[in-house]
Amino acid sequence: MIAEGRGLGRAKTILLGEHAVVHGGPALAAALDLGVRARAVAAPEPRLRVPAWDVEAAPGGGGDLARVFAVLLDAARPEARRVEVAIEPEVPSRAGLGSSAALAVAVIRALAELSGEPLSEDEIEARAGRAEAIFHGKASGIDAAVACRGGLLRFVRGEPPVRVEGCPPLPAVVAQVEPRAPTSEMVARVARVYEAEPRRVGAIFAEIAALVEAAEGRVADGDLAELGRLMDRNHRLLSELDLSTPALERACRAARAVGAAGAKLTGAGGGGCMIALCPGYDEAVAAALAPLSLWVRRVGLGRG
Ligand code: PMV
Repeated sequence: MIAEGRGLGRAKTILLGEHAVVHGGPALAAALDLGVRARAVAAPEPRLRVPAWDVEAAPGGGGDLARVFAVLLDAARPEARRVEVAIEPEVPSRAGLGSSAALAVAVIRALAELSGEPLSEDEIEARAGRAEAIFHGKASGIDAAVACRGGLLRFVRGEPPVRVEGCPPLPAVVAQVEPRAPTSEMVARVARVYEAEPRRVGAIFAEIAALVEAAEGRVADGDLAELGRLMDRNHRLLSELDLSTPALERACRAARAVGAAGAKLTGAGGGGCMIALCPGYDEAVAAALAPLSLWVRRVGLGRG
């Protein structure tokens, strides 16, 4: 055992394809140059602390974080199970930026480094996926894939993610405009609408899939203006599923008005975060979004 193990999990945004990806469609997701960091040291009793979110957990305690911590400790080597893990998030939680998957990946890596356990990316992703099932219910696995692998990924549920090469990092601004319901609730809500209106929702999902295919080509050839238009269209389709809110609409309009190539909600919706693709305009877009947001950052999409 070394004295301290460290790990990083990357936060993500979904460029196109959220929700449809839960039902088998493709999605494009990009790692942010921000994430969640974990530091693990030996301790008499296992404990996980996230001072920035004012939470603590111990295995056997109540709540999702305690259950996730227990699952991650069980998967680790025995010598990495009596630990205190301190978490430093660089992104807000419950906002659509994949903070829970990033936390899981960070803890898995910190525990593995502490005990000298060699872990493949596939194994890290699989363990993080089990954690995500606790946090999110029927999660597609997209957050765990990006948190672990970084880069810009084409993701289809149940298939290995494919790295999209091309022009990343893409210049963008991410803004959290308001709090929102947990991902599991939003996913369940869309599933209910799909069940009630299979034709209408099926057609929306089919169009989203076509947008994702087109977007992949635009990333590859660096046509960010067209990529932005595809993101705008994806946003309108998500609005038709009642996933947008007045605050998200205001922020997307404000970003487009000062030069963003495209703007959309990202993640589960119903509040949370929006993303604006803004080559050459990221300073102006960040300034326009600041008064409308709880948290805003200029980011490079698809790093790592
Ligand atoms: O947890 P979020 O807000 O990053 O949303 C994840 C994306 C969804 O498609 C809504 C759910 C999923 O598991 O793919």
